[in-house]
Amino acid sequence: MASPRDPAVRAHSRRVAAVATELAARAGLEGWERLAVRHLALLHHYPPEFMDAETVEFVLREAAGANWAGLRRADSAYRQRCENVRELVAAFHGRSALRADPRQAFVVDLVAAADQLVQQIEAHPCEPNLRDRFLDRLRGRAEEGLCGPAVTRTFGSLPRIFAEELRGLLDRLPVFPAVALKVLALAAAEDITFSKLEAALSSDQVLAGHLISVANSCLYSPRQTISTIRQAISYIGLEATRKVAIAAAFHPLFASGNLKALWKHSLEAARAVEAMARADGRFHPEEAFLLGLVHDVGRLALSKIGEAAYGRLLEEGCEPVVAEVFLFGREHGRIGAEILRLWNFPEALAVAVEWHHEPEAGGSPLAAMLYLAEHRTASVEAPPLAVRLRQAEAALSGAAAQFEADDRERNFLNALTAVA
Ligand SMILES: [Fe+2]
Ligand SMILES: [Fe+2]
Ligand SMILES: [Fe+2]
Repeated sequence: MASPRDPAVRAHSRRVAAVATELAARAGLEGWERLAVRHLALLHHYPPEFMDAETVEFVLREAAGANWAGLRRADSAYRQRCENVRELVAAFHGRSALRADPRQAFVVDLVAAADQLVQQIEAHPCEPNLRDRFLDRLRGRAEEGLCGPAVTRTFGSLPRIFAEELRGLLDRLPVFPAVALKVLALAAAEDITFSKLEAALSSDQVLAGHLISVANSCLYSPRQTISTIRQAISYIGLEATRKVAIAAAFHPLFASGNLKALWKHSLEAARAVEAMARADGRFHPEEAFLLGLVHDVGRLALSKIGEAAYGRLLEEGCEPVVAEVFLFGREHGRIGAEILRLWNFPEALAVAVEWHHEPEAGGSPLAAMLYLAEHRTASVEAPPLAVRLRQAEAALSGAAAQFEADDRERNFLNALTAVA
């Protein structure tokens, strides 16, 4: 039987607690009722008949954090709290009826609904309209009298992102530079020449400046200062030139200070996906590099919304994907894919971004590469699932699934990270 001390159960219970507490606040619950929601969510996987004082204390201590000493000192309040939690957990598991007390019944119904939604997001984070369908089922349950209408009203109060709002978000992002797509097209062309690349880069002074500064960086340490695009390309080579150009074109989107970590993660993912594509042999490595750079563009867009609840959910232990589906009705992969389609990116890249947190459902090996890249670069964006990881590895050739960055690759990344 799962114990609340099992790490996977604790992580799941924290997600449910974060989601349920947010719902409780939206429903106007205060004081002990809001705490009861949180405590029940943290303990909902524990069979009530085995819930001894030690277990309750373990969970309450974790929930109370710094307030624990004060809570423990007020002994009578503490004991009462333990009793309340036991009673609620018993009601959650259907072993005692609380329907006579509508406020306690609401607490139990709210946590049960939050638990169901979180479980569905854990299993299928990229499923289109998952939250809307969940809400439809919840309304059906309310009509059958299986949960109170107040619970459906609370879920119904969550924000939605409509297509127009998405376009509004896009207006706040800089336009993806056309020259980067031109460089990408050149990268895919068989007859790429020095002069074609030079001509494309010459049309954008900022890109040309970045290229020259990378060529002069300590990674390449030229004997003489490089001052022209032609010198830079011949010194660092065609392949590195194309990557520097693509990265420099995309970097302005991450210009604000709090997005630096996301830029670094995007570069690491780009390098990882590129190496996997090279080892796998089915995809163009430079296209894969661009895919890695843009894979979290949906997170970039969501950072412009400035929704306080989003930050709270992340702090409380929700991974970004869980917080996004709960709060906005879709996660950043789907939002990112919609952005890439508006930017006229190749459809295969949009599909890979769309399914990068549930690659087995999207049927795209590029999505599997992105999933593995996030895992290898220790970017926890969705609840980890061992079976999903195994399936993503199985979608690629053995060599591609074994990617590890070496020192030279890390130095190249550092040089690109410094491009600003
Ligand atoms: Fe659960
Ligand atoms: Fe992601
Ligand atoms: Fe990511």
